[in-house]
Amino acid sequence: MKLTILGGGGFRVPLVYSALLRDHDAGRVTAVALYDTDVRRLTAIARVLQEQASAHPDAPVVTLHTDLDDALRGADFIFSAIRVGGMGGRSCDERIGASHGVIGQETVGFGGISYALRTLPVVMELTERIAKLAPEAWVINFTNPAGVVTEAMSRVLGDRVIGICDSPIGLARRVLGVLGLRSVDATIGYAGLNHLGWLRSLTVDGRDVLPDLFASPDLIETFEEGRLFGREWLSALGAVPNEYLHYYYFTREVRHADQLAVQSRGAYLVEQQARFFDELGHSDPAALRDGAPLQVNSAQQVDSAPRADSALEIWDRTRMERETTYMAANRESVGMGERDPDDLISGGYENVAIALMRGIAHDQQARLILNVRNRGTLVQLDADAVVEVPCIVDSSGAHPVSETALPDFAVGMVVNAKYVERQTIEAALTGSKTAALRALAHHPLVDSVTVARALLDDAMAEFGELAYLR
Ligand code: G6P
Ligand code: MN
Repeated sequence: MKLTILGGGGFRVPLVYSALLRDHDAGRVTAVALYDTDVRRLTAIARVLQEQASAHPDAPVVTLHTDLDDALRGADFIFSAIRVGGMGGRSCDERIGASHGVIGQETVGFGGISYALRTLPVVMELTERIAKLAPEAWVINFTNPAGVVTEAMSRVLGDRVIGICDSPIGLARRVLGVLGLRSVDATIGYAGLNHLGWLRSLTVDGRDVLPDLFASPDLIETFEEGRLFGREWLSALGAVPNEYLHYYYFTREVRHADQLAVQSRGAYLVEQQARFFDELGHSDPAALRDGAPLQVNSAQQVDSAPRADSALEIWDRTRMERETTYMAANRESVGMGERDPDDLISGGYENVAIALMRGIAHDQQARLILNVRNRGTLVQLDADAVVEVPCIVDSSGAHPVSETALPDFAVGMVVNAKYVERQTIEAALTGSKTAALRALAHHPLVDSVTVARALLDDAMAEFGELAYLR
């Protein structure tokens, strides 16, 4: 089986590759095509994969591509994990947001809309190429903001595109952990949109154990979301919100913590990632001059310069640092301190993606929380709205199950967020600046039409990519 990764020079690609290396079954992925527009990143990440593969005689063969069509041809699965405008763009959105007193986080509020506006035109071009060259392939979308990007892609690819996020399963796992249970034993009830969902039930042996959490308030503040939202608020909701709801429920506090922070998340990652790619920077981009694929686990070396640390060690150290500081400002705002060591271990994204891929490829039924078209699951939204809900996966794809409804308090938030997403898509597909303004002005984290206008003007001044908006 061939897997193509769009954004193959992405920092988290080695996580996916390590999950593939653990799979020795027949019918596993044997070829990985990495496509990226940035040769330096591609060759740096290839060095990490090369070291990962060295101990595995059956390691999937990796090829590097700067030619999209080469990468796509013959793909059975395509992972899309691109970042238009890079980490610099993320940091810039945060800066623009902060200058107008609003949140600029990459998936929420102004930041999410701005990021989507520069991402969607690129994603749609990629999607058209996929539809032409790999019409049978299944596309798994990691590109943020994942919900809106998946919905835009689904207009061309239908149910062949499925969006994923690790936050819902991470949340369920943490709650089950404090209740002394394992996620394999529970049926998770979850409903919402990407980064805007609520855990509503956890059924173990036919009984919902989530109320047990609220019955023992001492347990609540022993896990990430419990500490973020606090026992009173969680008990008042009778559900556990996705961690990204912190930006909605505690907007002022997060803004305040952002103001006090030495650096925004994006600014930190700009530096951290630059350091990482510099450390691995002795690669020879000339190896890719004509876009020819490069065999990673053949004798052909991406780089032979000796250095103290291995590429894999540098990557692992950098990854740990990145995980440790995840959502630091939010945690700071409630005086939470460090993350739980269990939450630093990876396994989120790549395990969801691999389980999804196996479920489809080998008809191994699995129940996963995914971003798919609604099809009546959430009654307030139409059939084509992409929602984040539990799905049954089999060889015919991911099928949403409609057993979990939105809580009453979530209905307005979700319906409104979907409107904002759709205006963002309309803006990106038709070039309508007015639609972009409607999206921004209706987002609950943008508090005035004047501010929405100023944000849009600043984003357009900063990002040349947005010149298509008229
Ligand atoms: C979580 C979210 C992802 C997001 C990531 C950001 O895993 O679910 O959607 O991409 O965090 O992490 P970062 O290290 O880039 O801040
Ligand atoms: Mn996510």
